[in-house]
Amino acid sequence: MHPEFQLDKNIIHLNHAAVSPWPARTVKAVSNFANENYTQGSLGYLEWVQTENRLRERMSRLVNASSTDDIALLKNTSEGLSVIAYGIDWQDGDNVVIPANEFPSNRIVWESLCPLGVDVRQIDIQCPDPEAALIAAMDGRTRLLSVSAVQYATGLRLLLEVLGVACNKRSILFCVDAIQQLGALRFDTQQCQADFIVADAHKWMLGPEGLALFYSKPAARERLKLSQFGWHMVEQMGDFSRTDWLPASSARRFECGSPNTLGVYATEASLSLIDEVGMDSIESQVLENSRWLCQQIEADSGLELISDPRAERLSGIVTFRPLKQTVESVYKKISSAGVICVPRGGGIRFSPHFYTDRSLIEQAMACL
Ligand SMILES: Cc1ncc(COP(=O)(O)O)c(C=O)c1O
Repeated sequence: MHPEFQLDKNIIHLNHAAVSPWPARTVKAVSNFANENYTQGSLGYLEWVQTENRLRERMSRLVNASSTDDIALLKNTSEGLSVIAYGIDWQDGDNVVIPANEFPSNRIVWESLCPLGVDVRQIDIQCPDPEAALIAAMDGRTRLLSVSAVQYATGLRLLLEVLGVACNKRSILFCVDAIQQLGALRFDTQQCQADFIVADAHKWMLGPEGLALFYSKPAARERLKLSQFGWHMVEQMGDFSRTDWLPASSARRFECGSPNTLGVYATEASLSLIDEVGMDSIESQVLENSRWLCQQIEADSGLELISDPRAERLSGIVTFRPLKQTVESVYKKISSAGVICVPRGGGIRFSPHFYTDRSLIEQAMACL
């Protein structure tokens, strides 16, 4: 186990696709920030702002954005998706394309637009070529394609570059919910040409809940109508006596008021670990764990693999179903043995991170 993680010995945490444990440095950052507030109040406010800037830089690197100006800090993925949904100037008869069986946020947000005459096309991607199925569903009235980079239930990884090229060619906005990818697998927005990327920090980024990365391409964010306003989102932030204002040209225009500085400290610390270990190394360890799990499951006559084990489809999530017992009974059994995981997509979802020891995953498998 990586020295930054000190989970109880009776716990096997295979649930990073839900909520991750914090590394030691994150605990320390939160505790130091609490103490600082306790003893010095806001004396160090300028340092708070610098920490926030460092976080934007780390997030910007994580998605390979061309500028930190493209990063806004929002509350969560759902808020980011809502900012997009309520920013677009919809016309009656427009449509949004999404995969069927998406995580509810990437469905409900778009369905909430139905009263405006927006059609939500939910496309079955349990097929040999999910990208082709999504592309075939887009037409002249499609304004946006919104996908999770990695499907939350099955771990299916989409080929984002293929989707990005298709959207670009048709001038369709491309939105990626990257919460199941960032911090586990490399991400390159220059390559996949996403207009928007959203992801809360509490999964593979090893951060707290309530602080999300929101990336927007400059031309795409210009197209979004704003619906939240305040002192923080204006170009001349801090010039309180000024009475005229314009929205910031950067993605800060989506941050209406005071930031979640406690969350900023925690997430900055978590991402500093990710930077230190490096995304190349993290990705190869995450995929190695998943490959190993897929092999074990396929070799077990009592289990059926739900996840797609092909290299280009593999992610940090491996889902499988027991064939001789019910999912509920197996879930109950392994939970009582200390294995933290969840039932998802008709099976049991394991999601170890880069630091999860193979011996722990072996123990979890033995419990089955
Ligand atoms: C694909 C996906 N999107 C979003 C979320 C969470 O959304 P939020 O950050 O709004 O809580 C999850 C959580 O499981 C998820 O799997």
